[in-house]
Amino acid sequence: MANSSSSSSSVRNLLKERTFPFLLTISVLFLSAIFLIFGNNFQYPFFSSDLQTQTRTHSVSISSPPSPTLSSKSEPNSAPGSVTPPQKKDGVPPDDVDSAPVTPPQRDDAVPANPVDDDHDHDDAVVRVDINWELCKGPLAVDYIPCLDNFKAIKALKSRRHMEHRERHCPDPSPRCLIPLPVGYKMPVPWPKSRDMIWYDNVPHPKLVEYKKEQNWVRKSGDYLVFPGGGTQFKDGVSSYIDFIEQTLPSIKWGKHIRVVLDVGCGVASFGGYLLDKNVITMSFAPKDEHEAQIQFALERGIPATLSVIGTQRLTFPDNAYDMIHCARCRVHWDANGGKPLLELNRILRPGGFFVWSATPVYRDDERDQNVWKAMLNITKSMCWKTVAKTVDSSGIGLVIYQKPDSYSCYENRKENSPPICDDKEAENSSWYVPLGSCISQLPTDSEGNLLRWPMPWPQRLNSQPPSLSGGETVQTFYKDTKYWSALVPDVYLDGLSVNWSSVRNIMDMNAGFGGFAAALVDLPVWVMNVVPVDMPNTLSFIFDRGLIGVYHDWCESLNTYPRTYDLIHSSFLFEKRSQRCEIEVIVAEMDRILRPGGYVVIQETKEMIKNLRPILQSLHWSLTLHQDRFLIGKKGFWRPTV
Ligand SMILES: *[C@@H]1O[C@H](CO)[C@@H](O)[C@H](O)[C@H]1NC(C)=O
Ligand SMILES: *[C@@H]1O[C@H](CO)[C@@H](O)[C@H](O)[C@H]1NC(C)=O
Ligand SMILES: *[C@@H]1O[C@H](CO)[C@@H](O)[C@H](O)[C@H]1NC(C)=O
Repeated sequence: MANSSSSSSSVRNLLKERTFPFLLTISVLFLSAIFLIFGNNFQYPFFSSDLQTQTRTHSVSISSPPSPTLSSKSEPNSAPGSVTPPQKKDGVPPDDVDSAPVTPPQRDDAVPANPVDDDHDHDDAVVRVDINWELCKGPLAVDYIPCLDNFKAIKALKSRRHMEHRERHCPDPSPRCLIPLPVGYKMPVPWPKSRDMIWYDNVPHPKLVEYKKEQNWVRKSGDYLVFPGGGTQFKDGVSSYIDFIEQTLPSIKWGKHIRVVLDVGCGVASFGGYLLDKNVITMSFAPKDEHEAQIQFALERGIPATLSVIGTQRLTFPDNAYDMIHCARCRVHWDANGGKPLLELNRILRPGGFFVWSATPVYRDDERDQNVWKAMLNITKSMCWKTVAKTVDSSGIGLVIYQKPDSYSCYENRKENSPPICDDKEAENSSWYVPLGSCISQLPTDSEGNLLRWPMPWPQRLNSQPPSLSGGETVQTFYKDTKYWSALVPDVYLDGLSVNWSSVRNIMDMNAGFGGFAAALVDLPVWVMNVVPVDMPNTLSFIFDRGLIGVYHDWCESLNTYPRTYDLIHSSFLFEKRSQRCEIEVIVAEMDRILRPGGYVVIQETKEMIKNLRPILQSLHWSLTLHQDRFLIGKKGFWRPTV
């Protein structure tokens, strides 16, 4: 995922390898077409029993994805494992499947998609809309993050003791203004060069550069910002620090055993950036604070990152998600608030996973540090975290590695039941605007009550059954989904759509389902932020089990990211459900905010929804193409409304 410097050649290789499955796909499509002609009872997304027997060995359907849906009794985003096979009604609209058998993509002459040009538009009912887009105003408009820059709400807060002012406070109604471009904005430096240098004009933050200069994280060099991959906590460079951690605890096995890492208070995310070399994917996060632009730097560099804070609310990740949590010199008061921040880390850490705490006060003498360390000892002990390593590296930096238990025995042997184990109900809650708890989350079990095993080693982990996914039918849906995307991505997304994949690094999947889209892109030098909307089935645990990263989000609100941070936004059957709760224009304005100029939006929707969306995207002056009546591709330009 990280190393290939020439994506176009890897795309070609990928396609070459896929020739055989491609022929199979064509034959399946041919059979499907025949079936559609002779039988009217074709129901999305499963084959009827007749067709299934005909195509058992290679049943790939280029139709709607077999998205998971909820069983009737569970709440949206309740515990994973409550997902049942799709029903026609829920979420994914099947109508187009009956009426429009999809034509196989042509290979040789790579048919250009029909330009959606007004003059040649043969669509009968194009709705014209005239949206009066306006620019966001104010000195901070260029970097506006609606839910974090709501100064009115922040001013009204009663307390800031627990970082309440860094948490989400979304304006109501959601803003629809468009973000102005920074003066001198250029196309981002392509990956992998961007890991080491980015355009200063794209993220002009002179103060941060000045502040960090001492720490050797970033410096300005001509038109560029340069990242030396060091910093105060990585004196010998971040690569040797990464090796040092593994030498300290060899069972870590970067890129095999440990695949998904959370880096807390991540600086400019060099740790995550260099772990990519080891096939480890890291979600780096930091609050939007006085070092504001760290996360913006990270994303401009092409390193996965998000704005978040450990304050009063749960992080927007599922339970038992991360293989490792890392924190170097992070200024989080782990012992504050009765240890709630540490209990939150315990919640999102996989049983048997590691917490790596470096530049710790462990060997220091001053009283304050000693007290922090004592409190930490106390809390970690009460949570049954085992100290598996404690050492000092060559430059004198203290490093402690804790391990979360993977059985109940220690919990049961504690003298006091404090903190208590959470009860069942709490485990079923989502992590969207939920207050931090003060209990130890339960260890995950399968439907028969057995504790879950660690996922397979990477890369087998990607396409094997996620441990937290149990129950026969759902497992079938998972495999179907994997097949669906692994055929569709090379045959349509990489080949049929007019997307220049060499210019794509940061990808947002707005409605990720099982993460099949991201999984199918794993050999390209890109990374995908998998968003599981809070009103869709809660599949995010499966995504982490596969070795991918993601967050919960509600698309009727704005996302915690800077403007212009994604190169491609993918949205598959998201809009219908969303448009019942908020206006499409609000979602589109948010897509425009997070997409950089020159970036792409790829939308897979029903004909009906595309008809609604097209004029809105057109009003943003995006250049649009339509593929097979159900893929709408928009390329954002530099147009902004004139004030
Ligand atoms: C240690 O933790 C227990 C419960 O977790 C708490 O009651 C006690 O006050 C703590 N002691 C110190 C010194 O922090
Ligand atoms: C989930 O969290 C919300 C908000 O804290 C709370 O109101 C609700 O009762 C919780 N549900 C369960 C089942 O614990
Ligand atoms: C695709 O993007 C790359 C990187 O930005 C650029 O060098 C190349 O010229 C682009 N190709 C086309 C056909 O536009």
